[in-house]
Amino acid sequence: MQKVLITGGAGFIGSHVVRWFVNKYPKYQIINLDKLTYAGNLENLRDIENKSNYTFIKGDINDESFILKLFEQYSFDGVIHLAAESHVDRSIANPTEFIYTNIIGTVNLLNAARYFWKDNFGNKIFYHISTDEVYGSLGKTGYFKETTSYDPRSPYSASKASSDHLARAYHHTFILPVVISNCSNNYGSYQFPEKLIPLAINNIKNQKEIPVYGKGENVRDWLFVEDHAHAIDLIFHKGKAGETYNIGGNNEWRNIDLINLLCEIMDIKLGKTPGTSARLITFVKDRAGHDLRYAIDSSKIQKELGWKPSIQFRKGLEKTVDWYLSNEDWLNNITSGEYQNYYDNQYVKR
Ligand code: NAD
Ligand code: TYD
Repeated sequence: MQKVLITGGAGFIGSHVVRWFVNKYPKYQIINLDKLTYAGNLENLRDIENKSNYTFIKGDINDESFILKLFEQYSFDGVIHLAAESHVDRSIANPTEFIYTNIIGTVNLLNAARYFWKDNFGNKIFYHISTDEVYGSLGKTGYFKETTSYDPRSPYSASKASSDHLARAYHHTFILPVVISNCSNNYGSYQFPEKLIPLAINNIKNQKEIPVYGKGENVRDWLFVEDHAHAIDLIFHKGKAGETYNIGGNNEWRNIDLINLLCEIMDIKLGKTPGTSARLITFVKDRAGHDLRYAIDSSKIQKELGWKPSIQFRKGLEKTVDWYLSNEDWLNNITSGEYQNYYDNQYVKR
């Protein structure tokens, strides 16, 4: 019996990781710790919430004494740490929460693992989940490798970079068995509609403008979220302590091309004349410090752990659109209330 702590398991990627582990490893005890911020939603886990190998705990990783008590109570064998403030635009509007959760919260977990695992690390593993954004912005060519120097440029990526450095420092200084992965942009079901793809789906569904920052020329490397969950499973079980693995879709899209493809799919799914949704595209003021291009070289995880992305992008987008269109209640619940204030401040009032 392995006891695995997953932090941030009620969020987008975390809920896919929790579902993956709970279903695939019935002999593990999966403990999902989440503060349930605006981005955390227990609706994301309805299908597995009654499984006997699953426990949800509401709590804040910033609360040091709570985290110490939790480690004492459960004697975890492994940690998969996903809890974070994750949206770049929110980090530009209000950076401080990113510093608390992404940096202090991570240090609280590292300290607790160090204290309770007491230098007798055995097969224990502290897996810190990070982002490709820590590497900064690429020009038209090149890829982020595991050896690429860090050059974070938004408060979000700077806070994630800081937590990566600390996780690595705990490995070097205290020999804590830490493994890190840096992944490119994820898409799929249960993503909060502040991020580009679900925001655009929701707006098209409601015949609202699709806000494209600047000229839509920024490039992202998109990966289906279940492929990320699979990579996380492999790294958790087979990754080497002290190592970093880059995960990416080998799937670069300019934002405007992606939105045009999404509009084409939405026209088909909604039975509209081709070109209807694309008329909603509206170029708006660019994001401050907007990174031009991210692209991952994932050859290390492919060679060493045998991982590769499984789903072709158009298929993955169609699946994603189908999910959002058939989960109207989920979308409506999440976009009522606080979301409307966020949306107005981010898009309407500026
Ligand atoms: P998300 O915003 O959807 O979910 C974050 C979760 O963390 C939420 O459930 C939230 O309630 C929880 N949380 C926030 N603050 C907390 C705190 N103080 N204590 C406990 N729980 C807290 O994020 P996501 O997109 O699922 O990203 C998950 C992780 O993956 C993050 O660490 C992010 O940096 C990383 N990542 C994301 C992407 C992406 O494309 N979304 C890509 C690469 C890496
Ligand atoms: P986002 O989903 O916020 O992910 P990240 O900033 O972490 O890459 O944004 C993806 C890309 O889409 C990014 O280049 C910013 C752009 N974007 C828009 O053009 N309009 C929007 O409304 C949003 C949210 C993002």
